[in-house]
Amino acid sequence: MSVLIRNGRIITAADDYVADIFIDNEHISLIGESLDVEADQVIDAGDKYVLPGGVDVHTHMDTYFGGTTTADNHYDGTVSGAFGGTTTIVDFAVQYPGESFAEGLANWHGKLETNKPVIDVGFHLIVTDLKGGGSLEDLAKLPDEGVTSYKLFMAYKGTDFYSDDEAIFKTMKVAAANGSLVMIHAENADAIDVLVKEALAQGNTAPKYHSLTRPPETEGEATNRAIQLARIARCPVYIVHVSCQDAIDPIQRAREAGWDVWGETCTQYLRVDFSHIDQPGFEGAKYVYTPPPRPKENQDVLWNAVRTDVLSAISTDHCAFLWDGQKTMGKDDFSKIPNGAPGLENRLHMIHEFGVRTGRISLNRMVELLSTNPAKLFGLYPRKGTIAVGSDADIVVFDPNRKVTISASTHHSKSDYNLFEGTEVTGTPEIVLLRGNVLVENDELIASPGIGQFVRRAKFGHELKGGAAVAA
Ligand code: URP
Ligand code: ZN
Ligand code: ZN
Repeated sequence: MSVLIRNGRIITAADDYVADIFIDNEHISLIGESLDVEADQVIDAGDKYVLPGGVDVHTHMDTYFGGTTTADNHYDGTVSGAFGGTTTIVDFAVQYPGESFAEGLANWHGKLETNKPVIDVGFHLIVTDLKGGGSLEDLAKLPDEGVTSYKLFMAYKGTDFYSDDEAIFKTMKVAAANGSLVMIHAENADAIDVLVKEALAQGNTAPKYHSLTRPPETEGEATNRAIQLARIARCPVYIVHVSCQDAIDPIQRAREAGWDVWGETCTQYLRVDFSHIDQPGFEGAKYVYTPPPRPKENQDVLWNAVRTDVLSAISTDHCAFLWDGQKTMGKDDFSKIPNGAPGLENRLHMIHEFGVRTGRISLNRMVELLSTNPAKLFGLYPRKGTIAVGSDADIVVFDPNRKVTISASTHHSKSDYNLFEGTEVTGTPEIVLLRGNVLVENDELIASPGIGQFVRRAKFGHELKGGAAVAA
């Protein structure tokens, strides 16, 4: 099957030019002006942007967390991604306490078998148990399975997900030795636990107390601790969902010093603020995710950090729950509201609208943040994350002029609400291709379940070419 994309404005992290792209056997095989080739399918991309497919390295599909299971499985979630121009996710497989790492990973492969994805999927592994279930020797072998990043949570004291500094540090030492990247959810769990108990004892049960019991200092302290632990262990570290100046400061300092430290923020921190969680009734529960929504002023701080490469990626932390039936588990106690929200489908819409169209970032920087940098950091580049000869033909033909209104009534997540409900944006994916196969065209899903494949990722700092990992 061959495809010719004619006359589009091709935008990568580095370039911006008009050309044709010829796709053969799932890969980009030629790029040039007025290509003289025959193709099975021709797409006219005149007046459209042609972007590399989005890479979102922070999703939680079909995951038991917070006393319930996230609403989107690997089919629903990836359909949602496809409509939003994301063609690869790296999802968090979980080693629950008592399980070996192989069992945790096998469970996630089983989920892909059952709920077949329509975009490509890699896995990180969430490490929860180095005592009963997983051994350090087994942890060290995960790159052989194409899994080259571990995630640990400094937060969520008293839950399966929490790790103490000893577990984090031991994992970091394994990562330093085997070429993996450690991802940290950085919040001081002990301090938050005290604040949550105090709030509840005072009868403060409303959703807004989720924010008020997780002050920015708890994120800043833990971010600094994670960075210093990684420095002692000599491993690269990636701080997930950075939400505030207190966390940006230690990341900036580390990056200026040349340490192997990176950070991401997520779309919601750039648009949702404390006023959303501080609404009458139980509406605020929709915005209960962690770290929590911060005061509005914070958003300029985050935009500046993504613009200046203090933060290097924007993910979604897609962790969809239903408001009715799941969020309501915490109607009398904010600490029982499952933490997380949907967002995968609207990342490109939102960042194009509020980043590019407002002049905060360039189109090239948008591509870098949503596609190229996550692909590079997580062992997917240059197969993913760019438009180049030899790369997978994961391509978004984006109409920069079409207006759409973001809404749960049209999104494809199973969640019954949308974080950005009613937001009007100009610019939306028109055609989305995965390895040259059309997934979505004019708001219709063309892809069959299972067209998405598991991707074995290269080690940290290595490139992924033609399915094989090679030293960069
Ligand atoms: O509230 C959040 N962020 N839920 C997903 C799990 C996590 O902490 O990343
Ligand atoms: Zn987290
Ligand atoms: Zn997350």
